[in-house]
Amino acid sequence: MRSSRHRAIIGFILSIALPFSAGCAVQNQSANVIEEPALRSISPFPIGSSIRYLPFQKDLRLQSLQKLHFSSYTAGSDMKMHQVMPMENSFDFSVVDSIVQHTEDYEQRLFGHNLIWHSSTPTWVKNKAKKNPEWLASFMREYIHEYVGRYRGKVHGWDVVNEGLKTAGSGYRTDSIWYETLGPQYIEMAFRYAHEADPDAVLFYNDFNLERDLDKFESMMSMVGDFQSREVPISGIGFQMHIRMDIPNSIIAETLKRAADTGLQIHLSEVDIIFNTHDDSRGGGIQRFDTLTPEMKVAQKKKYYDLVTIYRTVVPESQQYGITFWGFNDRDTWIRRFFDMQDWPTIYDDNLAPKPAFWGVVEALN
Ligand code: XIL
Repeated sequence: MRSSRHRAIIGFILSIALPFSAGCAVQNQSANVIEEPALRSISPFPIGSSIRYLPFQKDLRLQSLQKLHFSSYTAGSDMKMHQVMPMENSFDFSVVDSIVQHTEDYEQRLFGHNLIWHSSTPTWVKNKAKKNPEWLASFMREYIHEYVGRYRGKVHGWDVVNEGLKTAGSGYRTDSIWYETLGPQYIEMAFRYAHEADPDAVLFYNDFNLERDLDKFESMMSMVGDFQSREVPISGIGFQMHIRMDIPNSIIAETLKRAADTGLQIHLSEVDIIFNTHDDSRGGGIQRFDTLTPEMKVAQKKKYYDLVTIYRTVVPESQQYGITFWGFNDRDTWIRRFFDMQDWPTIYDDNLAPKPAFWGVVEALN
């Protein structure tokens, strides 16, 4: 293992080399020297961020921060079905292979996001399933077997099914080709196929708003309890944890604790914290705050501190699969693009300098 001091030095060298190698790609010259501590060196559990691989390749400052801070890598979208199988029955593993290489070079755990998600199912799969419903089950089996099998021992864990529950309230998500064609059984089928392909992989059910929508949380808990009683090979629960400043700590703590009582691994898999709000749909942002004030930055620091502290407090160490940020800087955050609103949900600012939120995380990890 490279020591954290070694890594910090590498990060430092990479960052001071930037003005010469990257030229005008570097936007904030004053932020080129990394003075903040490496999160991975102070974190008791794996700490990660999602990254979009191609833009990342062109941004040396982003690379130096990513290598310095994170011990876990989640692909923002590069590992989803529409990316790895854009056309009928032909895998494109080129980007995933590069990601594997990157994570091996920098000793990062690669987390697979995701296998089955209604939202990244390619149109060709939906069309084919509508014409020939029997085909979908065999496709799912082959897709998972080949994909998970290829990266056996390289991808540490997978979000096997993402967002299989309704956006809000109880019950399964029905607006999904998987549910429409195969019924709720598709979820356990996916877990079984993934386990067959890599018996050592850590297999997660992942969803959003579990920490705040108690009906949705109960649906997740009864599905997981049923899986455990029937030995469906689930090993973890992913709380995406796209939260808002006003989600009460008490409800986050309570749901995390109850989830941990299952004995499964608990992953905060997509953390960010917004000030504004949205309706959970693309373009559905509701803008309340236009500017980020110093007071808001301090409040956000406290919220990040609280979230990490709650995780450390209520989830037993042996079940701490880790905390992953959904992008770690406000310049690149998906929130602005997806919800079409301004916000500042992450730990680094638009110039890739650490925000008070970053120091909130540091204090909670220390
Ligand atoms: C998002 C990506 O960040 C965006 O770039 C893309 O346009 C849509 O998907 N929950 C998830 C992630 O599980 O896969 C989503 O990622 C964000 C919400």
